[in-house]
Amino acid sequence: MESYVGVFDSGVGGLAVVRELKNRLPREAIMYIADSRFFPYGTKPREQVISRATALVEFLEAHGAHMVVVACNTASSAIFPDIQHRVGVPVLGMISAGVKSAQLATRNGRVAVLSTPGTARSHGYLRAMGLLDPTVDMIELQSQELVNLVEAGSIDGQDVAAYAADVLKPVREFRADTLVLGCTHFPFLNSLIQGILGPTVKIVDPSKELAYEVGLVLEKCRLTTGAGRQDRFFTTGDPDDFLDKARLFLGDYVSKVEVADV
Ligand code: DGL
Repeated sequence: MESYVGVFDSGVGGLAVVRELKNRLPREAIMYIADSRFFPYGTKPREQVISRATALVEFLEAHGAHMVVVACNTASSAIFPDIQHRVGVPVLGMISAGVKSAQLATRNGRVAVLSTPGTARSHGYLRAMGLLDPTVDMIELQSQELVNLVEAGSIDGQDVAAYAADVLKPVREFRADTLVLGCTHFPFLNSLIQGILGPTVKIVDPSKELAYEVGLVLEKCRLTTGAGRQDRFFTTGDPDDFLDKARLFLGDYVSKVEVADV
């Protein structure tokens, strides 16, 4: 069977992770699935997120994924470490990559993380940072509204900027010098957020570290590459709608979206 790096999210957010994976590992073929029919994950009960995420990991494995990247912080905060015992391929997620990059980036040991309500409720970032480096202080901020705006294709404009400025107010109050984009939808707001916070706050996108970790695992496990093969994109929702969004965020190289009955 053809092999892919399987990647999933509730919607378009994981495309920001695909972008990083393609930058770092251009030879790898990606199989992406957006759980658009069940978007958003951020306000769903944990059990429901676990059940959807598990079904998607199993779908990717059954369709030839030789490893799976959980390109969703909400799902990552819910399914690790248990998911690794349920499937036969390596599974990597966002949270450990996020705390690692934040720890490297911060100079004053004060970090803010902006996520969905589900991720914030899990305190996954707090716990992971506590294990990695207990000297780093972290504040958890949340906004489902910003996620929903990105999913709808709104990544600039006065309304989004005003809303984001309000959500990000505690970053300065907390004197954080680093902000972790703890939801994969937020890298699409990177320049808007940088404009609000100014140059003294570093913005960390965990998918850069994650792409590096994916490369290490592929090398270590001697997994085959997908050189020359087409990436595949699936959605559990409307394929035309997802194709429009994927083109908006990733450009023309997404030419076809298939429907997944998961
Ligand atoms: N992009 C996802 C995350 O990183 C989830 C967004 C949502 O479905 O609420 O958490």
